[in-house]
Amino acid sequence: MQRALTGVQPSGHIHLGNYLGSIVPALELQRSYRAFYFIADYHALTSIRDPAALRESSRQVAATFIALGLDTDTHCLFRQSDVIEVCELAWILACQINTGMLDRGHAVKAARDGGREPNAGTLFYPVLMSADILLYDANVVPVGRDQQQHVEIARDIAQRVNHHYGEGTLVVPEVSVRDEVGTVLGLDGRKMSKSYGNAIHLWDPPKKLRKTIMKIVTSSKEMGEPLEVEGDNVLNLYKLFATPAQLADIEGRYRAGAVGYGHAKQELFELVDGQVAEARARYDALMANPAEIDGILEAGADKARASARATMERVRAAVGIR
Ligand code: TRP
Repeated sequence: MQRALTGVQPSGHIHLGNYLGSIVPALELQRSYRAFYFIADYHALTSIRDPAALRESSRQVAATFIALGLDTDTHCLFRQSDVIEVCELAWILACQINTGMLDRGHAVKAARDGGREPNAGTLFYPVLMSADILLYDANVVPVGRDQQQHVEIARDIAQRVNHHYGEGTLVVPEVSVRDEVGTVLGLDGRKMSKSYGNAIHLWDPPKKLRKTIMKIVTSSKEMGEPLEVEGDNVLNLYKLFATPAQLADIEGRYRAGAVGYGHAKQELFELVDGQVAEARARYDALMANPAEIDGILEAGADKARASARATMERVRAAVGIR
């Protein structure tokens, strides 16, 4: 069976953009691929220096996948740092490329454009990410557009290694970029993002979820006036959760002036809450029992490690170490 692999950086609360944009699509792939999904905690170290926060966010990512139904018996859910071979492979790969390739990395560019000198981990980021991908013989790597360049670097490195050390040393992965048409917009109508402060957190308790949804920015209209459907921040989110019939219904009421923004937000809250409530109960139960999460991650790491070791035998033999 072909392998799908992706990593998720633990970086605080999971929001609806993460959920709809990357987690739901990843969960769908488990039907047709063997999934290798991991918590990219080594990558997170490039920006998180708080050990308790890193540990907590890592568990949150794991609990999210489990609560939403990743079958961890069939597939592999693990912590990147539990399979230490990834560091060894990263070193070997680093020796195959020029620094110019890393200088062009977009995270490095972003730091420099912002007047900061990137830390060495940020420069090395694409090499570690290549190791993540190549260590597990991944066939497809589903990512957002912002990560496409990194997967292309992984492809490039794999091709160089195969060219120099022999075809079949590494599996050359395909990148699968999620379409941006489905970009989830936040409270203020910009792309939902932690850094914009416009996010709706997936696992907030109902009261808090409702409070956040009530903050969605809308125009002001008198009660009974028709509401604009195009570009409406409530509807933009509503349509991501609604059936076509539900959407047509609320749009009809917008046009007829038969609903106000407050009520529309309440309906949005009920829709989202209704869809996540069951999974949220599982999520809360898991977060209250970290040992259970850790046990699942350890079992995942055992499976991942078996695959990693086979790759490293091949790579070590190919390059001439051990
Ligand atoms: N860099 C990715 C992100 O920030 C996370 C990641 C780490 C990843 N290693 C990976 C994604 C390997 C895909 C494959 O989103």
